[in-house]
Amino acid sequence: MRGINYGVIGSGYFGYGLAKIIHDDVPGGKVVAVYDPNNAEEIVRELNCEQEMDIDSLCKREDIDAVIIASPNAYHKEPVLYAAKYNKHVFCEKPIALSYQDCDQMIKITKKNDLVFMAGHVMNFMDGVRKAKRIINDGKIGDILFCHAERTGWEDAQEHVSWKKKKELSGGHLYHHIHELDFIQFIMGPATRVCMVGGNVAHQGEKFGDENDLLLVSLEFEKNKFATIQYGSAFRLGEHYVKIQGTKGAILIDLKNVNVIVKTTDGEERILLHASEVEDEDRRRIYQGLEGGIMYGDPKTKIPMWLDTIMKKELNYFHNVLQGSEVDEEFIPLLDGTAARAAVATADALTLSLNEDRKVNVDEIIEKVAQTTVI
Ligand SMILES: NC(=O)c1ccc[n+]([C@@H]2O[C@H](COP(=O)([O-])OP(=O)(O)OC[C@H]3O[C@@H](n4cnc5c(N)ncnc54)[C@H](O)[C@@H]3O)[C@@H](O)[C@H]2O)c1
Repeated sequence: MRGINYGVIGSGYFGYGLAKIIHDDVPGGKVVAVYDPNNAEEIVRELNCEQEMDIDSLCKREDIDAVIIASPNAYHKEPVLYAAKYNKHVFCEKPIALSYQDCDQMIKITKKNDLVFMAGHVMNFMDGVRKAKRIINDGKIGDILFCHAERTGWEDAQEHVSWKKKKELSGGHLYHHIHELDFIQFIMGPATRVCMVGGNVAHQGEKFGDENDLLLVSLEFEKNKFATIQYGSAFRLGEHYVKIQGTKGAILIDLKNVNVIVKTTDGEERILLHASEVEDEDRRRIYQGLEGGIMYGDPKTKIPMWLDTIMKKELNYFHNVLQGSEVDEEFIPLLDGTAARAAVATADALTLSLNEDRKVNVDEIIEKVAQTTVI
């Protein structure tokens, strides 16, 4: 099997972890170069690879087949465009960009050059989530009528305000925590008409970022189906779950208490969220110390066991596709950026809804870009 050489852009909390996995756990995968303006030295030393001083010089290297992008959210687009220019496949962390327009441009250019453009929507690789999707596809809970998700918690004043708390860099909770929105659209299809209310209700001042800390989302889908999502750090009683209500049954994916319950006409079954009871227990222990589902890493944080396992799964998936494996039907929109773009389209429509105090058709976002984009 052909080996694949990788370049890594952004080697903080997540990029460091992704690079280590390529090196240690992806057979035939090798990290040959890293670019990070602040944190490259440690990983370069550890993996015995080279440090590049800018994005262009990394992407143009002839010994690189694919680029892994794990820089702050607002800085994903530039490296994707460089990678495409030099014909490198791309694995890009979520959210792939902070506007539908940018996502669209990134997709068009990678597609034009026949490149894989995988989004790091890692929730898709949780065993419990994949199993839940299969159960839904097999019709065991009937037609889905409604989903509700929460990713909420509380944050105290911060000594150092991370880029993750700044709207311009992270997009705030809605974009930064796009997993739940993406998952709901994966199982219900794209939302058609959306509404969001909320704001920054309890976290103003220099010890906080400028993101909204309370967002209440409602989504309408074709065929009279609905979803609601709550995001934010203004919830003293925080939660992290997705509840799926069908005509014949329901599924609860509780990511805080680590409990996946499938209710069908055959009765109620509990399945694992992660790969083993040990990993589920590890996650439970970590979330017990938090107020809800709000948790951020930084370059000094170690990736927990359960997250490391699903990152290994997604990176091996990407790697195998680069080596010629067929993409499963379920993952086609994940491997060409279109699922990620659909989630950002809905996020943009929700942002417009909040800003203009009205319900917004998601098509409004898509059509506006179609009218203005010339590639
Ligand atoms: N899939 C997940 O569950 C998950 C979890 C955490 C983070 N992420 C994503 O990974 C990405 C990185 O997040 P993180 O937690 O590692 O943040 P981090 O702050 O720990 O690391 C970001 C790194 O990017 C570097 N950087 C800053 N500007 C850069 C630029 N222009 N080009 C290249 N590198 C630059 C910083 O020096 C830092 O080392 C984000 O997009 C985030 O959303 C995904």
